Amino acid sequence: MRDVKMTADTKRRGRKVVLAYSGGLDTSVCIPLLREKYGFEEVIAVTVDVGQPPADIERAKKRASSLSDRHVVVDAKDEFVEMIFRAVKANASYEGYVLGTALARPVIAMKVLEVAAYEGADAVAHGCTGKGNDQLRFDAVFRTSRFEIVAPIRELNLTREEEREYAEEHGIHVEKEHRWSIDENLWSRSIEGAELEDPAFQPPEEIFQWTVSPAEAPEDEIIEIHFERGIPVSLDGNRMDGVSLILSLNKTGGKHGIGRTDIVEDRVLGFKSREIYEHPAATILLNAHADLERLVLTRAEIQFKSIADAVWSELVYKGLTIEPLYEALNAFIDKTQERVSGTVRVKLHKGNAIVVGRKSPNAIFTKDVSFDAKTEQKMAEGFSFYHAFQAGICARTCHKS
Ligand code: ARG
Repeated sequence: MRDVKMTADTKRRGRKVVLAYSGGLDTSVCIPLLREKYGFEEVIAVTVDVGQPPADIERAKKRASSLSDRHVVVDAKDEFVEMIFRAVKANASYEGYVLGTALARPVIAMKVLEVAAYEGADAVAHGCTGKGNDQLRFDAVFRTSRFEIVAPIRELNLTREEEREYAEEHGIHVEKEHRWSIDENLWSRSIEGAELEDPAFQPPEEIFQWTVSPAEAPEDEIIEIHFERGIPVSLDGNRMDGVSLILSLNKTGGKHGIGRTDIVEDRVLGFKSREIYEHPAATILLNAHADLERLVLTRAEIQFKSIADAVWSELVYKGLTIEPLYEALNAFIDKTQERVSGTVRVKLHKGNAIVVGRKSPNAIFTKDVSFDAKTEQKMAEGFSFYHAFQAGICARTCHKS
């Protein structure tokens, strides 16, 4: 590997670092780098389970066993689901992206901090490059602690090729990895890189693993989701925990080709990147939740909340869950969700999750305005008299020069 500027730093002798470890190339080369280039004596690798494929966790275990001093796997699926349900309550979307990776990063970073505190570590590390959003998300959460923050790939300015060479030199056998960079968790699967970086390149069908092509979808299916205080709690009448509910909807929705997104996204640093996502459960739950809100919230609430939702989504995209505004928005959003209980029927139809019925004991709905109800239509005359009052005067009397 080209001579990296940094030489082994003796000031860290005898010191311990806890690394957020996925088991991929970036984080794997970080382990020897933390020893050789940074002088850490003990490297503890932490893999946080947010619903990535079990094979990924196994790979991390295997690699870490020969590389790191210790490897810890932390199951954070329940915490991740709490974060996901916050996103549902906030109808979360950033430029059409359901925020899967962005939702998981703060959960992972928090777990790394917990392990670091437990281990009495001196530093925490991540393997993010200096190009993406994830570095910002890790750093933001890490910054709530007093641990030194180390990001070897970014600091040493390594390219993928240089990482591969370094990996070989250190006996890290990186199987000929997919051309694509994939990040997968309970909420979404993201695919980027290689030819996909060209926004004009049409993604080959093979990159999709959670969803079939909508053209291959079977006959329509109707499902019913019940929400309590903005949170989905049962599917077709069966109460289930969040993880099971999301897994089940990913499966059913994926079979119907629901939840594919191909967008040009504005990264926090400012550049545009082409992103492909799969997220069947997210599409179904977000559609159903937003629809239920339209039945039970007032017009004023809906209008104002759409602003809060957009700000919430942007904060989370940027990794700013430590921003006090994030907590304040959650308090507001939770208040609005007190009445968001009810059942939504969704038709799964060739790539679409279409709401075909909704009911709630809190519906702001009155039969008085039905076409068939005998209500006093004359009452509206007074209301209407003052409607557009100023605009009416203006139209009749104002002079336009
Ligand atoms: N663009 C998304 C985000 O910033 C997803 C990034 C996922 N990374 C990947 N290697 N596929 O949250």
